[in-house]
Amino acid sequence: MPRAIVLCGSPRKGGNTDLMADAFTEGARQTGAEVEKVYLDDLWIRPIAEVADVPEMRVDLRQDDDARRLLDRVLAADIVLFAAPVYWQGVPAQIKAFVDRWACYWGQQGFREAMGRKVFAVVTAHASPEAQEGDWVINQVRAWADFLGARFVGSARFGGCEKGAVARSKDVLEQCRELGREASRVTAEV
Ligand SMILES: Cc1cc2nc3c(=O)[nH]c(=O)nc-3n(C[C@H](O)[C@H](O)[C@H](O)COP(=O)(O)O)c2cc1C
Repeated sequence: MPRAIVLCGSPRKGGNTDLMADAFTEGARQTGAEVEKVYLDDLWIRPIAEVADVPEMRVDLRQDDDARRLLDRVLAADIVLFAAPVYWQGVPAQIKAFVDRWACYWGQQGFREAMGRKVFAVVTAHASPEAQEGDWVINQVRAWADFLGARFVGSARFGGCEKGAVARSKDVLEQCRELGREASRVTAEV
């Protein structure tokens, strides 16, 4: 049974990306996946501290916060969904701080091998009605997948600002469900 972890980057519970993440979860469960949801804003994750230039020499100086434990949960998953609103033309700090911390572990063979087996997906929301506004976040997650050797399975986007407005966009929620189903299906091939 594929395992998915949903990383919710918005501090707005019941907000647009949260509801999109739930639709993704529904789809993934329909195709047999087990899904765990994490609100990064509920955790204590500091920005990365100084690290050595050489990846193999790096140490995570901030192992007393929640980043390492969450990373272990990510490493144990087959599918990683980034549920991230567009904040200032990029991903929210909650997600960026966590992913930055991965640089502490990048020099470890086990980390690289585990990341290389994963499927990444992203759902995003943005206030601007311009569809391409979501590209800031989607392209970022796609670049992470490429760099880590993970498989990028796709994205869904919603243009709207009002909290939970995506609930009225049945087509967007269906895209999220289909993304969940697809992520679960391709996991078998990775
Ligand atoms: C700090 C902050 C920065 C934002 N930056 C942008 C932006 O650059 N472009 C945009 O279209 N919307 C921006 N927004 C609007 C959110 O992306 C939008 O409200 C989205 O629906 C929020 O998703 P959520 O409901 O999951 O929190 C910003 C919102 C906040 C709070």
